[in-house]
Amino acid sequence: MNIENVAAMSERYLMNTYKRLPVSFTGGSGYELAGSDGKTYIDFLAGIAVNNLGYSNKKIVEAIKAASEKPIHVSNLYLIKPQAELAKRYIEHSCLDKAFFGNSGAEANEAAIKLARKYSADNYQYNRYRIITLEGSFHGRTMATITATGQKRFHNYFNPFLDGFIYAQPNDFEKTVESIDKSVAAVMVELVQGEGGIRVLSKDYIKRLYQYCNENDIIFAVDEIQTGMGRTGKLFSYQHYDIEPDIITVAKAAGGGLPIGVMLAKSKYAESFTPGTHASTFGGSPFVCSVASAFFDELISGGYIENAKIMGDYIIDRLNNLKGRFPGKVLDVRGLGLLIGIELSGDLALQFYRFAFENGLLVGVAGNNVVRFEPPLMIDRKAADFAIMLFERFLSGKD
Ligand SMILES: Cc1ncc(COP(=O)(O)O)c(C=O)c1O
Repeated sequence: MNIENVAAMSERYLMNTYKRLPVSFTGGSGYELAGSDGKTYIDFLAGIAVNNLGYSNKKIVEAIKAASEKPIHVSNLYLIKPQAELAKRYIEHSCLDKAFFGNSGAEANEAAIKLARKYSADNYQYNRYRIITLEGSFHGRTMATITATGQKRFHNYFNPFLDGFIYAQPNDFEKTVESIDKSVAAVMVELVQGEGGIRVLSKDYIKRLYQYCNENDIIFAVDEIQTGMGRTGKLFSYQHYDIEPDIITVAKAAGGGLPIGVMLAKSKYAESFTPGTHASTFGGSPFVCSVASAFFDELISGGYIENAKIMGDYIIDRLNNLKGRFPGKVLDVRGLGLLIGIELSGDLALQFYRFAFENGLLVGVAGNNVVRFEPPLMIDRKAADFAIMLFERFLSGKD
């Protein structure tokens, strides 16, 4: 079937929730994707920070094959060995004590919000349920998580929104603390705001806010859905900040391409979940957990996280050079590891998105004016130089 037919069928049968580029992918290896148009694409989006090990990773393919020959799903009413084994990996590599598994990032954040409220209900005899999130944040698309998202553009159409979220200004400790009163149960932050334009929060701000929360028994939760699993050059982004959060949420890359959501908490808080207080039919299935463990082991032992730091520094350095040469067009370059944003003037980001695609490079856009580079973590100099070369060509052509 040719691509025009796929486009026509998609338009006829699918809800119009995505603006899709006219290509489908028929194969992939490492950071390359084979397009239905016969072209090879260098992937600097990785399925939006999902394919951290790229495509056709041998360990993932083997794990999928092996897990498919055992029960794919069993209920959480029974013991699930691969689930406990995956939880053990997370606990041994983080400051958290207990895991809950769901199927997506939004679900992981829903679980975090519910746990924070349950802990507060268990321990305080008055209404203490509010969650502080930050302006510019993104936490998901369910009713609770779009409400948690601190961007006005997401707060349309779906009234009434959930009660109990307060939006504070990032990187301003005094202002953030001003919005915290006795009704606040938790603070939830992304340490690098992804959808908000790849904004790296200041270390000083986060450390002070974390300490304030600790002193006041306010849960400090970090949304690691995009920043986790090596993306920023550490396994979790909180490890850049000298803090030990009470809760973290992970998703996207964590399943090696399969859907998963993970909510990790310290014991003190995790104890508030008891049978019947939270659940998920598919969460923690043997199939997904087996593959997620294979992904975890390969990520930790394969040099990917170290490479994310080295290549991230290299790309940011080269982009800063272009910023110096094209100051009217490149307004800012920011990021951590391989989570990189380039703020461009006018509609140049959207123009580059299209230009890159037409020249065999897949990138993303955050907001309307920030180009997003989030490649698989094993990219090399050759791939990075190709992306930079195209970007330079684009900027030069705009003189
Ligand atoms: C920081 C962050 N939190 C939550 C989510 C929601 O994850 P999901 O789309 O898996 O529900 C996303 C997705 O982009 C995200 O980037």
